[in-house]
Amino acid sequence: MCGIVGYSGIRPAAPILLEGLKRLEYRGYDSAGISVGHEGKLTVVKKKGKIKKLREAVPPKIQGVYGIGHTRWATHGQVNDENAHPHSDQSGNITICHNGIIENFNILKSKLLEEGYIFVSETDSEVIAHLVSKFYDGDLEQAVKTALGLLEGTYGILCMHADEPGRIIGARNGSPLVLGIGEGEMFLASDVTAMMAYTKHVVYIEDGEVVDVTPEGYHTSDLNNRTISKKIQHISWELDEIEKDGYETFMLKEIFEQPRSITRGMRGRLDKENGAAHLGGLNLTSQELLNIERIKIIAAGTSFHAGLVAAHLLESLARIPCTAELASEVRYRNPIVEKNSLYFAVSQSGETADTLYAMRELKRKGARVLGICNVVGSTIARESDGGVYIHSGPEIAVASTKAFTSQLTAFYLFTVIMARMRHLSLKDGMVFVRELGEIPSIIEKVLEKDSEIKILAKKYAGAKDFLFMGRGINYPVALEGALKLKEISYIHAEGYSAAEIKHGPIALINEETPSMFLIPNDELREKTISNMKEIKARKGPVIALAVDGDSEVGDVADDVIYIPRTHDLLYPLVMVVPLQLFSYHCARELGRDVDQPRNLAKSVTVE
Ligand code: AGP
Ligand code: GLU
Repeated sequence: MCGIVGYSGIRPAAPILLEGLKRLEYRGYDSAGISVGHEGKLTVVKKKGKIKKLREAVPPKIQGVYGIGHTRWATHGQVNDENAHPHSDQSGNITICHNGIIENFNILKSKLLEEGYIFVSETDSEVIAHLVSKFYDGDLEQAVKTALGLLEGTYGILCMHADEPGRIIGARNGSPLVLGIGEGEMFLASDVTAMMAYTKHVVYIEDGEVVDVTPEGYHTSDLNNRTISKKIQHISWELDEIEKDGYETFMLKEIFEQPRSITRGMRGRLDKENGAAHLGGLNLTSQELLNIERIKIIAAGTSFHAGLVAAHLLESLARIPCTAELASEVRYRNPIVEKNSLYFAVSQSGETADTLYAMRELKRKGARVLGICNVVGSTIARESDGGVYIHSGPEIAVASTKAFTSQLTAFYLFTVIMARMRHLSLKDGMVFVRELGEIPSIIEKVLEKDSEIKILAKKYAGAKDFLFMGRGINYPVALEGALKLKEISYIHAEGYSAAEIKHGPIALINEETPSMFLIPNDELREKTISNMKEIKARKGPVIALAVDGDSEVGDVADDVIYIPRTHDLLYPLVMVVPLQLFSYHCARELGRDVDQPRNLAKSVTVE
C-alpha cells in the first residue's frame, strides 16, 4: 500500500525520486510528494492526485543530490495537498515520509499542541516530524530513535534534516523498507521495483530496525543502538519484467503471460515418471508430511480464493481435511492450533498486514506456517517456516491475475505430493501430472478467444449488477470472477455457489441482471445446468463458460465461451482466464483505469 523512496548520492535526486514513485504507483495511492535537500535547505513539493501532477509541480531546475518521496494512501485525513507527504517540522528543517498508521497519534498530538507545536495537516504522520524536531540536538538518528520509542502502530519512515546533508534515516515497523546499494549512492524504497534500474544489491530492513544512510555507506541498528549486521541480497528480476512489453496495460500483459508464469512455477517441480512433484522449500521431511492430519490456509482477497480452491483440492485428491479462512478473521478469534496441523499463509506480495499478523499469531501459538508467496524476500516469505515461491514474476496491476493461477499451481504441486503419499496411485498420479503439465497450452487456447470475449464484454458492460455462479471446486472461481469485475469495472458483482441462488439471490434476477455460469464437464454439470435454467425461467440473461462441444449448455445460455476439456480438478486454472479477460474488457469499455482502480492498493499493509 502506497510507498516511500529515498536517494542519497551523486546524481540529481528529484528525477530518481519521481521515477521510483512511478514504479511504486501500482501499489495504490491518492497523492504524492518529494523533498529534496540542497545547500542546507529542504524543498517540499506535494500534490493530490497522480504522479504526473506532482511531476508538473516540481520546478524543472530543482537542485539537490539527496531526498525522499512518498505516495500516500490516506488513512487519517482527507486526500488533499496539505495531507500529502513529506511532512515538515515547524522550522522546515526536518522532513519525513511515513507509510502506515500511528495508532496513538491523538495522545501525542494533544501533548505536542500543549507544548506549542503547530500542526498543518490532519494526518497521524505529522506527529513524527514534530517529535523528531523536539528531540533533535545535532544527531538525526538519535532523534528519530527517541521519537520512534513513543510511537505505537505501524511505520516505514524516511527522515532528513537540513543540517545533515546527504543523510537519510530509515526505520521500519510493519511497513516494508528495502535499502539498495549502489556505487557512491544509496536507495531506499518500499520495494525493489523502485530501485531495480540502478542496483540489484539490496538489504531488507526488518521490523524494529533503523538504517542510517549516507552516499558512502549505511549502518543498521535497533532502537537501543545495538548494531545489526545485515546480509546483502541479489535481486533476480529483470527490469523488462516490470515494463509493459507492448501491451496497453500491465493487467493485460499479466493475463497473457499466464502460460509462461505457470510453466515457470512448475519448472523442475513436476515428476512425470512417478506421477509426483518436488517442492524444495517446504522444510518438512516425508515423515512429517505423512503425519499431517489437517491443513489450514489463511489469506486475503484473490489469494483467499486460491486458498478455497486448494482446500477443495486437498480434500478431494489427498483426502486431508483442509479449510481456508480469511486471515483478517483468524487473528482476532484466538485461533486453536491443533497438533499435526499445517498452515499456509498465501500472499502474492508477502506484505499483506492481515495475513502477516494472523501468521505471527499462529506461530506464537506453535503453528508451523508455510508461505506461498510471489515476492522473494517479502516479510511473509522471510518469517514463515518454509514454503513455495510461485515464481510468477512481478505482478504490477492492482488486480491479481497471474499470481492467482501461479498460487493454484503451487497448491496443485503440493497436493500431488500429499496425495501420492496417501491414496493416489502411480497410474492416477501420472495422469494428473500429465494433465497439469498441459495446462499452459490449454490456457494459450483460451487466450485466443480474447476478441470474442471483448465483443461479449461490450454487450454486457452496461449492467449495474452481475452474478457469478459456480459449484464445487469452481465455486471459488465464481467468487474470483466477481471480485475481478467489481475491482476494475466498478460494476456490482457477487459470486455464489450455483446451488445457493434459490436460497436468496434469485430474488435479484430480472432482465437487467446477467449471470455468468461456470459449467465444466464434471459430476456437477447437470445440476449446474438446472440452476442455469432456473435463471433463464426468470428472464435473467446468462453467459456460460462451458467445455468444447457442450451443445446442451449452448441451447440454454444466451452466450457461451467454450474452453478446452481438462481434468475435473484442474478447471479452476482454465475457467478463471476468460473471467479475467471479461472483467478487463468490461472495465476498458467503461473507460476505467484498469491498472490502478480507484481506492485500491496493491499491497495492503494496514489492517
Ligand atoms: C486482488 O485482485 C486484490 N487486489 C486483492 O484482493 C489481493 O488479492 C489481496 O489484497 C491480497 O494480497 P496479497 O496476495 O498480496 O496478500
Ligand atoms: N497514515 C498516513 C496518512 O494518512 C500514511 C498513510 C500511508 O501509508 O500512505 O497520511
